[in-house]
Amino acid sequence: MRIELHFGDITEFNTDCIVNAANSSLLGGGGVDGAIHKKVGKLLKEYCAKLNGCLTGEAKLTLGFNLKANFIIHTVGTRISFNNVEPTFEDCENLKQSYQSCLEIASKEKFNEIVFPNISKGVYGFPIDLASKISLRTIFKFLEKNEYPKKVIFCCFNIENLESYINEIKENYE
Ligand code: APR
Repeated sequence: MRIELHFGDITEFNTDCIVNAANSSLLGGGGVDGAIHKKVGKLLKEYCAKLNGCLTGEAKLTLGFNLKANFIIHTVGTRISFNNVEPTFEDCENLKQSYQSCLEIASKEKFNEIVFPNISKGVYGFPIDLASKISLRTIFKFLEKNEYPKKVIFCCFNIENLESYINEIKENYE
C-alpha cells in the first residue's frame, strides 16, 4: 500500500517533504502552520514573504530549513465559513485541488515520500469524514497514474482523524 497513516507532530518527520496547511499570506498562523513556522523561525517567514502569497487550492514549495524534512509544500485549504454549514461543491473541489497541487509538485520533484497533515480539518472547519473521503480519493487516483511520490503519509494529530481515515479505507479501499 502506498498510503500510510501515522500519528504525531508533522514537524518531526524525517522525510522528503511535509505539507503545511497554510493561509493565503504564507506568513504563518496557528495549528500546523504555526507549529512549522515556530520550529523554523524567521528564515521561513522571510523566504515565504517573497512568494507573493498562495491562492486556495494552490501549493508552493520551500526548503525545509532546519526541519528534518528536506522541503515544505505550503497549500491553502478550504475555509468553511460557519460551523454546521455543509461544504459546497466548490469547497470540495478546492480541497481536492489542494491535495492535487501538492502531489503534482512531489511528482515533478520526484519525491519518494510526502507527508500530509489533515488539511482544512482544523481552523478551517471542514467536516472530517468528508475531507478524509476527498483526500483519499484524490491521492489514490493520483498514485494510480504516477510513479512519484512513491509513498503518501497522513500525519494525524488526533485520534478522530486517524479513525476517520481508517474507516474510509476499510469501507472503500480494502
Ligand atoms: N502536526 C500535525 N498535525 C497538526 C499539528 C502538528 N504539529 N498541529 C495541528 N495539526 C492538525 C490539526 O489538529 C488539524 O487536524 O492539523 C490539522 C489541520 O488544522 P489547522 O492547522 O488548523 O489547518 P486548517 O484547518 O487547514 O486551517 C488553516 O489555520 O493555522 C491557521 O494559518 C493557518 O489560516 C490557516 C488555517
